[in-house]
Amino acid sequence: MDSVKLVEMGPRDGLQNEPALVPAAIKIELVERLADCGFAYIEAASFVSPRRIPQMADSSGVLTGIRRREGVVYSALTPNLQGLQAALAAGADEVAVFTAASERFCQRNINCSVAESLERFAPVLQLAHERGVRVRGYVSTVLGCPYEGNIAPAAVARVAGALYRLGCHEISLGDTIGTGTPRAAVAMLSAVRQEVPLVRLAAHFHDTYGQALANLYALLEQGLRIIDSSVAGLGGCPYAHGATGNVASEDVVYLLHGLGLETGVDLDRLVATGRWVSLQLGRENGSKTGRAWNG
Ligand code: HMG
Ligand code: MG
Repeated sequence: MDSVKLVEMGPRDGLQNEPALVPAAIKIELVERLADCGFAYIEAASFVSPRRIPQMADSSGVLTGIRRREGVVYSALTPNLQGLQAALAAGADEVAVFTAASERFCQRNINCSVAESLERFAPVLQLAHERGVRVRGYVSTVLGCPYEGNIAPAAVARVAGALYRLGCHEISLGDTIGTGTPRAAVAMLSAVRQEVPLVRLAAHFHDTYGQALANLYALLEQGLRIIDSSVAGLGGCPYAHGATGNVASEDVVYLLHGLGLETGVDLDRLVATGRWVSLQLGRENGSKTGRAWNG
């Protein structure tokens, strides 16, 4: 049967913008529960400046604290060599570098130009590969930028291609502010796949405007088979005003199973995990399937 690779973002993208510090024990339990749901790829940590993102300051403790499940890849964001060294020391199985299709977002997010970010990533990729660790590459603002507005598909393709040529094994395309609609998403993908093979491309869609599932469906029709999502729709981005979480994992799994696409994820367990984490954070469950599901 045709299948989709899911990359669970809840513990990283989901929590990084949470205003109150979440205890490491809750983060660890979240990662373990997600692995028990069947996710084989979990972004569990982020080795960035603790002054910029205080919520991720305990990433080493989280990564070293989890009871590891065989076959699960636990990954972390690493914007520079300092982050990579910390991630390797904590035992990250895979790491990710991140840049953007728009200059102004890149400056606000990682304090450098897009070209400088690529220069900064070269030694990160080199060291990661020496250690046998694969590197994912994110491109933010692929369907709109909070500061620059519309983004040309060619600009996204340029940055995605550069990351791929640097050695990123997978390129995740971020609709950071969730403004994309299906036709724009397809146009963007058509440009990017000229530079990067389709099998190496992931969709990372935030659901701010309620378009994420429609956009994902459009890209599934084009043959894309890697999707980033976040349990209970947790998350946002501290440098994108008004951004909400990634598309909810429960809603994505419900859609995919309805389409006859395998995910390896147990929806009952996932819904229970989404309800549990929403309670822990005192948040309304951001997944419609999570709210409605009764087995
Ligand atoms: P910088 O601002 O250029 O400054 O850092 P620096 O390199 O001169 O370092 C400044 C301070 O940060 C120093 O400490 C460094 O030690 C420290 P000080 O001397 O002032 O005490 N530092 C670090 N500490 C821990 N780990 C590190 C590290 N690097 C430097 N790795 C940097 C550049 C990128 C690190 C910084 O700007 C930063 O951390 N930005 C935060 C970026 C971030 O986490 N954004 C959210 C994640 S991206 C996202 O959510 C989008 C995505 O989901 C896709 C999408 O939706 O579009 C992926
Ligand atoms: Mg994101």
